[in-house]
This record gives sequence, C-alpha cells and structure tokens, in this order.
Amino acid sequence: MSEQLTDYKNSTKKVYIKTFGCQMNEHDSERIAGLMAEAGYDLSERPDDAQVIILNSCSVREKAYDKLRSEIGRFGSLKKNNPGLVIGVGGCVAQQEGKRLLGGSRLIDFVFGPRAIHKVPEIMERVSSDGRGVVEIGAPGDKMIDANIKRDNGITAWVSIMEGCDNYCSYCVVPYTRGREVSRPSNNIINEIEGLASDGFKEVTLLGQNVSSYGKGLSESVDFPTLLSKIEPIEGIERIRFITSHPRDLSVDLIDAMAKLSKVCEHIHLPLQSGSDKILEGMNRGYTYEEYRKKIDLIRNRIPSISVSTDIIVGFPGEYKDDFHKTKDALLGIGYDNIYLFRYSRRPNTAALSLDGHLPEDLKIERLEEILLMQREIASRKNGSYIGRSAQVLFDGQNSKEEGGIVGRTRTNKVVYVKGSRSLIGHLKEVKIVSTSFASLRGELLENSINA
Ligand code: 5AD
Ligand code: SF4
Repeated sequence: MSEQLTDYKNSTKKVYIKTFGCQMNEHDSERIAGLMAEAGYDLSERPDDAQVIILNSCSVREKAYDKLRSEIGRFGSLKKNNPGLVIGVGGCVAQQEGKRLLGGSRLIDFVFGPRAIHKVPEIMERVSSDGRGVVEIGAPGDKMIDANIKRDNGITAWVSIMEGCDNYCSYCVVPYTRGREVSRPSNNIINEIEGLASDGFKEVTLLGQNVSSYGKGLSESVDFPTLLSKIEPIEGIERIRFITSHPRDLSVDLIDAMAKLSKVCEHIHLPLQSGSDKILEGMNRGYTYEEYRKKIDLIRNRIPSISVSTDIIVGFPGEYKDDFHKTKDALLGIGYDNIYLFRYSRRPNTAALSLDGHLPEDLKIERLEEILLMQREIASRKNGSYIGRSAQVLFDGQNSKEEGGIVGRTRTNKVVYVKGSRSLIGHLKEVKIVSTSFASLRGELLENSINA
C-alpha cells in the first residue's frame, strides 16, 4: 500500500512558478497555477522538484527584465541534470519580446503573453508533442479574465475587474504589453466574489490599471462606484480594496461611494509620479499638481481617517533640480503614508524615449535615495500618530520572525504585528497600537479580542 502511494506521488507532475513584478503579475500567476492544476500539475515550492518551470515576467521597469534574464540562466542550468525539464516564460516581457526571447535562449521552451494565459495547458500539450518553440502572444480581446484561479491564502483575494490600459503615459509599456483597456462584466465579478465569500475569504482587492474608468465599453451601464455598491452587500466579505486609481479619473462619485460604503477601506493609492507640472505634462498624465492636490484635500475632508499612498518616478527626462524639488515639496505637503519609488527606466516603444534631457543613472540614484530618506521620516510620523489608538486588524498570517507572533493589516493598509494565537488568523480583531516604525505598527490584542 505504502509503495503504491509512493509511486503515485512520484508520478505527480509538478510546476514551479516564479513571478516578477506587480500585483497584476502575481494575480496572473494565480491563474496560471489554476490552469496548470486542471491540467494535472501540483504546485512545487522548489524549482529542482518540478518538470515545468514558468517564469512570469514584468517589463514595467528594466530591472525586472534584467532579473528575468539572470533567472533564465539559473533555472536553465537545472536542464543539465534534467533534460526533460520544460521552461516557459510568460508575462509582459514575453509579450514584448515574443520570438526574440525564444531565439535568444536555447533554455526556453515556450513563451506566452498576458493575454494568452488561458492557452497555457494547450501550449504545454504542444510542447510535449512537437518539442520546444511555442510562442503565443494572444490577440486583443482574447478571453482570459475568467480563467481558473488558484489562490493560496484563503483570507484575502485579488479580483481582476479590467485588463489593459488606454492612458499611454509616455514612460509606460503597459498599453503595449497588456493592450487596450477592457472591463469585465459586473456579473462575472460579482459571481467570483460570491464564490470567494462562500470559500471563507474576508477581503477582496479589485485590480485594474485604472479602476476609476471601469465600465467603459461594456454593454451594461455600470461605473466603478456602482460596482462597489454591488459588492458591498455580499455577505462574508468584510473589506473591499482597489488598485490603481488614476488621479485624472477619480470622481466625486467615487469619493462619495468610499465614504458611504462601510466595507470599502480607508485607503487610496493615487499615483502622483511627479510634483512638477512640466514633468507631468511630459509624462502625459493629464493633470496638474494643483488638480491632484485638490482631489487629495477632497478625499481627506470626506474621509478624515484615510491613508494615502502613491507612486513616484525620479529622473524622468528633463527633470531639472527645480522639478525634483517640486516633487520633494509635494511629498512634504501631502504627507503620504507610503510611497513606491522608481527611477525612470527607458522602455521600448514608449514616447518618453525620444524626449530630450535623459539623466545619468547616478543622478537618478542620488535623487531616489534623497526621497527615500525623507519619506522614512514622513511615514514614521504618520505611523506614530497611531500610538495609543485602537484599530481593526484582519490577521492573515504568522510572523515568521517572532515565535507566537501573527500579522495583519488595518483598514488603512498598515501592517500590524501582535503576539497572539494562530487561531486568530482569518479573523478581524481590535488591537491597541503600542509602538510603530516607518514600515509597520506593533499592537496588543484588546481583552475581548483574544479568542477567535
Ligand atoms: N520607469 C520607472 N517607473 C515606471 N513605472 C512605470 N513605468 C516606469 C518606467 N518606465 C512606475 C510608475 C507606475 C508604477 C506601476 O511603475 O510609477 O505607477
Ligand atoms: Fe501605465 Fe499610465 Fe496605464 Fe498606469 S495609467 S498602466 S502608468 S499607461
């Protein structure tokens, strides 16, 4: 009996998936995992244990692309001991590079773009019958959003509400890799979230490159605030989040919906990119700093406890000293809870490539470090204001660095560590915040919260 069991285990096929890049890419990997599971593959934690390795790549910044290249070399070396190992590259780099990627490395067996994810099982069959060399890029409008999804955390889930982007910010490769913006019908989204609720999930994060323009092009008349109000009554779901909103499209209706709907969390990620109007224009962002600032004031007036995060690019072409200072002033003036900071990187096809005034890398790095230091202080101050207050925390895991420690997030998206029983994971509890750093909060469970 035990021998048979061992045989069975040995015959199970395994896939190892490695993701580079944004949440969108992470979520795509969950879809790939779901499709591979249907095709009979278990997820492997280790590359040397797998018959198939899939690298899901991001090309938003050059660094992620470089990392992919070095990983291909690393995983490719496993082929020496295991010639039957199949390696696939998916995601935005695959979309962009297509055949070139396959031609450039003998180690890669197949390549597929973000719009061809639903074809992964079919691609696998073609590789096993015809050998290496399959490239599937996927066409605009290819059905992909309703693919099966394998999520490994049963508490918080990403839910895709739209694909692609129509904005063409001058530095950004996304409209070329993920294609034009397509919204997903609201019924499909609601069905998926109802399914998540009945599986015990407590929180959903709605994903799209520009959620504030959700609904464009659908045959039904639905916009993003309406979608939020349709999700609100779903029993079992306690928290609703979303990323990313475009400042230009952020409407008063959306702010009203956030204020009114109790499950929509008090956090907004609103990418500013730069505090200089000249740079914002060069980026084709469609707003001025003043317009952006007014929207932040409006949100804070309506939802005083809201936390605000942003994306900033330093070193965009033509960013002179005074432009950089405007970005620093904006960060000081707005006081973000958190920022995601990038140095401009040249991406193929993008309009910014042909702009004048590209800056040397060392200057970009210098500016990046200057802002990082400044933001640390701002975030420390923001987090410090939580000391002594109580906050609702949804626990979603153990703290790997502390025996008997668990971790969760406030509605404002702050990471909170407490000492507490594992049985609290998956539950919402009140916590008193006792100390803070620039990156997280530390709390104690309130008496009536200790039991799950
Ligand atoms: N260089 C640097 N940062 C970029 N981003 C997108 N494209 C680039 C680029 N070429 C950043 C933007 C965006 C975030 C997801 O990545 O800040 O909001
Ligand atoms: Fe890229 Fe701009 Fe679209 Fe965001 S809004 S994905 S930065 S083009």
